Amino acid sequence: MCGIVGFTGRRQAAPVLLSGLKRLEYRGYDSAGMAVRNGDAPAEVVKSTGKLIKLEEKTDHGQTLAGSCGIGHTRWATHGEPTVVNAHPHVSGNCQGSGSGPVESDVVGVHNGIIENYVELKEKLLRHGYEFYSSTDTEVVIKLIDYYYKKYKIGPVDALTRTMVRVRGSYALEVMFKDYPQEIYVARKDSPMIIGISEGESYIASDVPALLNYCRSVYYIDNLELARVLPGEVHFFDLNGDEIPKEPTEITFSVEAAEKGGYEHFMMKEIHEQPRVIADTLHSAVQDGRIDLGISEETLKNISQIYIVACGSAYHVGVISQYVLEELTNLPVRTELASEFRYRKMNLDPDALVVVISQSGETADSLAALRQAKTKGLKTLAIVNVVGSSIAREADYVFYTKAGPEIAVATTKAYSAQLVAMYLFALKIGEVRETIEDIAKYLQELESLPGKVERLLDDKERLQWFASKLSNTNSIFYIGRGLDYAICLEGSLKLKEISYIHSEAYAAGELKHGTISLVEKGTMVISSLTQPDLYEKTVSNMVEVKSRGAALVAIASYGYYSIEDCADFVVYIPKTLPVFAASLAVIPMQLLAYYAAVARGEDVDKPRNLAKSVTVE
Ligand code: M6R
Repeated sequence: MCGIVGFTGRRQAAPVLLSGLKRLEYRGYDSAGMAVRNGDAPAEVVKSTGKLIKLEEKTDHGQTLAGSCGIGHTRWATHGEPTVVNAHPHVSGNCQGSGSGPVESDVVGVHNGIIENYVELKEKLLRHGYEFYSSTDTEVVIKLIDYYYKKYKIGPVDALTRTMVRVRGSYALEVMFKDYPQEIYVARKDSPMIIGISEGESYIASDVPALLNYCRSVYYIDNLELARVLPGEVHFFDLNGDEIPKEPTEITFSVEAAEKGGYEHFMMKEIHEQPRVIADTLHSAVQDGRIDLGISEETLKNISQIYIVACGSAYHVGVISQYVLEELTNLPVRTELASEFRYRKMNLDPDALVVVISQSGETADSLAALRQAKTKGLKTLAIVNVVGSSIAREADYVFYTKAGPEIAVATTKAYSAQLVAMYLFALKIGEVRETIEDIAKYLQELESLPGKVERLLDDKERLQWFASKLSNTNSIFYIGRGLDYAICLEGSLKLKEISYIHSEAYAAGELKHGTISLVEKGTMVISSLTQPDLYEKTVSNMVEVKSRGAALVAIASYGYYSIEDCADFVVYIPKTLPVFAASLAVIPMQLLAYYAAVARGEDVDKPRNLAKSVTVE
């Protein structure tokens, strides 16, 4: 996710900003920039795409930027491709502010998060004579601050509070006002921001590692609060503009621990980011009850078949989506492994839409499958996490998931974001083809998913205890029917890729056609039971393996209490609509895999033989 730094003090700001940004590199980014002020002079803005080294080279490691007050940013693209114009800082004036040099603008700023109503705000600002150069939501919010600042002539704190009331979404905002040299203003909602003071100087950052070289005593800004930062001094305000008292906190942990947000591994950090990622992905596509995935209703009306193509966990999302699309729409759907699809001699329906799902947007087989589909004249939609990646650029339509950078090799949050994107895709098709009557009911249920995931995460100690027993097992089966089978595919992959325990996912009804011969006393079988109409059928299959000595684990929806007669260990998941159950059932599976791998002492974030992005065939 994007990183923010800021400094105001006696020293030259740019080298301090660069060293802070370096500390945030682990979060992933695709461009970077700084704005520095020298006394009353206007801010000088420098930006570049790619690695920080380019920004360092452009500024001779910060030496060419004079001034002791500045802001810096590393950007992970969410709105608009990773280009210099889209990189932060953005300026309020009608100028690009994208090159190097002083920028005549009243407000200059950087932002983390997502402004959900930026389209509506942009239209308002256009009517008031503002021009836009980037495709970012950030440029909109900076110009909105400027608008209120000038309209009411009320000073920075009030301009910010008015902006905060007007925008929807999440933000950590850091801005400088031309009329207030040596001062930085910050505001936040649902996106972290901290301020450190040391020896007459002040430091701002979106994350602790950026500050640890300079200070250990920091102030945390709470939601819907803002701050005025001067050298060695900070004042906090609430949304009414009233000053509020705040006490600093002493940071005792190391840089490494701070990078992982206090978690032992990136995978665990990313597992815990899932409620936010689900909400962000949902809100980026749904405005006032309308779903917009960047593909026209006309196109969705006219397709006669859907092919979903992907690899690994993204393929598992595709398998789940097949069940969801079959339930909610009247379209035939096939989900294919990209590595197979690209060489199949399939008789493809010319009116089909090919949906390629990929976190990285660079997976070689998925990219080849996309190109193959395009060569055959089929329309293509990419569901991708990395903005500007090859698959995103080459597809006819693209919808970006909002998982942010995923560092652990085993995907968790990107998988959850892809699921939400595909639910919305199914709902949109159901809406335009009139196979869904009450879309609001589904959207309301999607809104409740983040809270339900939180509840599952709150109960993780029980799974940790169980995983320590499971970690001695050599082989595990995951079984389920229908959508539960698709969930099992992901549970099984998660376990084997990080713990190295052999595991297989089986359609529960298929076990007796051969594989059941492997079940003996003590064999562990994990069942997923979230689909009401298939519950009893799966229970019968559980009884079959139990009678051959299997130890049974059930991941079941609340209410299926009779499962306790059969299973040795039960994890209940909150109730949801059956089509969305994968988003909940996968959480205990991720946790079991994680804790089993930790118990076995494996390198959870970097499992052997695996790469985060498989760019070779
Ligand atoms: O970047 P992609 O989503 O295209 O990657 C696809 C697979 O390589 C990926 O999901 C892989 O299976 C993960 N290691 C699963 O955790």
